[in-house]
Amino acid sequence: MSQVAAMDIGSTKVVVALADVEESGLLRVLAVGSAPNEGVRSGTVVDIETTAQAILQAVRQCEQMADRKLDSVVLGVTGEHISGSRSPGIVPIVPAGRTITSEDVHRVITHSKQIPIPAERQLLHVVPVSFKVDGQAGVTKPVGMNGERLEVEAYLVTGLKSHILNLERCVNRAQIEVEEVVLQPLATSESVTAPSDRQAGCAVVDIGGYSTDVAVFRQGGITNSSIVPIGGSHITGDLVKLLKTTPEEAERLKLQFGSCIPSDSGEKEAVVVRQIGMEKPRPMARRVFCEIIEARAEENLTLVRDWILKVASWEDLNAGIVLTGGGAALTGLDRLAARVFNDVPIRVAKPTPLHGLGDVVSGYEHAAIVGLLKHAQRSALARQEGPEAKGIRRLMNTIGSVFGSKGREDIP
Ligand SMILES: Nc1ncnc2c1ncn2[C@@H]1O[C@H](COP(=O)(O)OP(=O)(O)OP(=O)(O)O)[C@@H](O)[C@H]1O
Ligand SMILES: [Mg+2]
Repeated sequence: MSQVAAMDIGSTKVVVALADVEESGLLRVLAVGSAPNEGVRSGTVVDIETTAQAILQAVRQCEQMADRKLDSVVLGVTGEHISGSRSPGIVPIVPAGRTITSEDVHRVITHSKQIPIPAERQLLHVVPVSFKVDGQAGVTKPVGMNGERLEVEAYLVTGLKSHILNLERCVNRAQIEVEEVVLQPLATSESVTAPSDRQAGCAVVDIGGYSTDVAVFRQGGITNSSIVPIGGSHITGDLVKLLKTTPEEAERLKLQFGSCIPSDSGEKEAVVVRQIGMEKPRPMARRVFCEIIEARAEENLTLVRDWILKVASWEDLNAGIVLTGGGAALTGLDRLAARVFNDVPIRVAKPTPLHGLGDVVSGYEHAAIVGLLKHAQRSALARQEGPEAKGIRRLMNTIGSVFGSKGREDIP
């Protein structure tokens, strides 16, 4: 049995979780720490001190619960600095016509990485999207096939070193090492979709505080990812301005009475608002209150839709759109999304339940941390296995794996 730890540094909160990986492969959550954070926007640290303090608070909480010190974590990264590009790889199979092995797959993926990466960028993942054997396209599992030439089209994910370093510095301030950096939307997808969804094609949309992560999956692997700079906190911000109230009051009212379907509110229903500088709370029509929410939520989903349509068509996404993140908890979001995304299937999903203290990380806002724990588990397993077993695992996973490892050698 081994232990894994993961950290999600979000724009509203930092979450750290520690879990046991049991012999059977089951993940048992042992401890969770969480602290509000205001020091990150769209995945980028804008206030090192605030972020470091939030991390420290979450780490201490987690350590107290676990009754042990944390040494290292798998860290999720996201943001506009992340970029993805397609890169082909090609290798001959010698002697010509022999059976393709997992080593050949390893070689062709290594070849796909041989493109110049600017000095200021760090390679995070190399995900094979599809293979060709002797020119035959659409191969998902080349191992065991015979051929003379193996080709791959890989998706390379890079991030700006400076942005990643800033996050790592904040983590290090809590005496914690970053053992691995993972593209967060990739991790999130592991907790809210099944391999069959990713095989059929889907988009995973994580609506956070100040941004929304979007990732598209086809043939089992990630093909595109992006970030939209709007999230649930923009709704709260609109309410603050238009209702002339405090952020705390706006957030409370949003959680208690908010919906993005104004017509669900009766004509006479009212929301009582405590306004800044006013002695008496004032009632306002709940429909109007919900119209404010609807406008921003619709803008958010429309931006997501427009981006998805730039990189894919609805026919590519047979498993539809999966909405998650704290912002997806908004009442009526599934119906608003059905409107925005026309007839594409919509699912609002919580992360897959984990054992132990799994209920502490069971909300929409925990999709990322659960996915990161799963990724940490996968990495721990790969470390434990010898090269031979690792090869078999690669073979079994082939293109079904959404992850790579440490951006160095992301092999199926
Ligand atoms: N029940 C709810 N109804 C509406 N909004 C909600 C609800 N619960 C949480 N939210 C919103 O979810 C947002 C926070 O989501 P989440 O915790 O996923 O963000 P984060 O991970 O900190 O941020 P990010 O991913 O953008 O860095 C907040 O704006 C909050 O108001
Ligand atoms: Mg988040």
